[in-house]
Amino acid sequence: MVSWFQVLLAQQFGTLTLLVLSSTATGAGAGAGATMAMAMANPNCADRCGDVPIPYPFGMTEDCYLNKDFLITCNSSFNPPKAFLGTTNLNVTEISLQGQLKLLQFVASQCYDQKENKLSDIRTWFELLPFTISTENKLTVIGCNTQASIDFYHNNASQQQQLPYATTGCISKCENISSFADGSCSGVGCCQASIPKGVWNISVTLQSYDNYTKSSNSNSCSYAFVTSQDEFKFTPKYLRQLQNTDEFPLVAEWTVGNETCDVAQKNLPTYACKQNTKCYEPDIGSGGGGGLSGYRCNCSEEYQGNPYLTNGCQGISTDTHLLFAVLHCMAMK
Ligand SMILES: *[C@@H]1O[C@H](CO)[C@@H](O)[C@H](O)[C@H]1NC(C)=O
Ligand SMILES: *[C@@H]1O[C@H](CO)[C@@H](O)[C@H](O)[C@H]1NC(C)=O
Ligand SMILES: *[C@@H]1O[C@H](CO)[C@@H](O)[C@H](O)[C@H]1NC(C)=O
Ligand SMILES: *[C@@H]1O[C@H](CO)[C@@H](O)[C@H](O)[C@H]1NC(C)=O
Ligand SMILES: *[C@@H]1O[C@H](CO)[C@@H](O)[C@H](O)[C@H]1NC(C)=O
Ligand SMILES: *[C@@H]1O[C@H](CO)[C@@H](O)[C@H](O)[C@H]1NC(C)=O
Ligand SMILES: *[C@@H]1O[C@H](CO)[C@@H](O)[C@H](O)[C@H]1NC(C)=O
Ligand SMILES: *[C@@H]1O[C@H](CO)[C@@H](O)[C@H](O)[C@H]1NC(C)=O
Repeated sequence: MVSWFQVLLAQQFGTLTLLVLSSTATGAGAGAGATMAMAMANPNCADRCGDVPIPYPFGMTEDCYLNKDFLITCNSSFNPPKAFLGTTNLNVTEISLQGQLKLLQFVASQCYDQKENKLSDIRTWFELLPFTISTENKLTVIGCNTQASIDFYHNNASQQQQLPYATTGCISKCENISSFADGSCSGVGCCQASIPKGVWNISVTLQSYDNYTKSSNSNSCSYAFVTSQDEFKFTPKYLRQLQNTDEFPLVAEWTVGNETCDVAQKNLPTYACKQNTKCYEPDIGSGGGGGLSGYRCNCSEEYQGNPYLTNGCQGISTDTHLLFAVLHCMAMK
């Protein structure tokens, strides 16, 4: 993780950055990093589950999370232990204090043999309520002459109402195998559809539209999943088989409360943003009740840490002064 002051120094000192990074790994910087990491969970609470850091408002027991929406179930019968969202079977791999969460998801698939008999058909669905699926994700479909659709519920923030089903999807063709290109998902062997804001419950279904007759002379499968656009690169090997080691994370959005900042600030005992913070309302659509998306907290400028914890946002000026001094010494040598 690159911390705030490293970024600052990178901007101001350009080429000296490497020097600073290596000095933080060995010197005083390592200590500062450790105290920062400790401040991320509620005091007296475990701050990680296996490899996954769990910052407040998330927590693994009742006295450690903000409310039960932020429950992470840590199952230590796995080695290393695994983090699950609430009581679901969705594995959490990363929690960001900027309001996002990475989850692993199941892949929908459908396979046919040469004689066009359906061998398997796996549909997937999951619910993230009160969190929502980020618009950074896309429905991604891999396969020949296949189409996938995604049914979802979402809320219409401007109307303060929950909308029932809506559907989106795409069609992937494979008429010319030589036109596959690594890295691009262009409708040949792979297609993608956008996910609207505020979606919290989806189900993914695949369907062949010509019974895979044109696709190949061997068994053929197609796959569909919802994944972050940034992390997905199409490769034609996915058409032969998607390995269970290929993991495509889904990005979810979280907020605290279901009120605006103005309303939340009027009720201090439940207001989630602590000292030296700013409150803001992200434009992500709404997962929770009432059609409002809730708010997030951010440390004010010149502070860093966890804005949801009492005294979680700490001034960073002493650290930077120290580093400027160190840098100055290095430059003099
Ligand atoms: C942990 O995972 C194991 C294996 O999947 C399961 O049997 C067990 O019920 C889980 N424990 C909890 C607390 O969820
Ligand atoms: C989450 O972890 C469990 C336990 O290892 C595993 O069985 C399950 O397939 C994982 N879920 C996903 C979507 O990868
Ligand atoms: C939400 O409601 C507004 C106002 O009626 C409408 O203009 C808009 O299209 C709706 N959005 C969706 C996604 O249905
Ligand atoms: C298949 O694609 C290649 C390269 O894009 C092109 O040269 C060839 O003419 C195409 N064949 C057909 C039958 O469309
Ligand atoms: C979410 O979608 C599934 C399948 O489409 C449906 O069975 C389930 O009831 C929905 N959940 C809620 C809370 O509406
Ligand atoms: C697919 O196969 C089914 C049953 O074998 C048949 O009824 C249907 O017409 C076929 N569809 C197409 C598009 O070929
Ligand atoms: C906001 O959340 C609280 C507690 O979770 C709930 O009681 C309340 O009804 C919600 N308000 C709206 C407008 O959905
Ligand atoms: C929150 O703070 C981070 C780090 O200072 C900054 O990058 C981000 O833009 C801020 N977000 C908002 C909405 O102010």
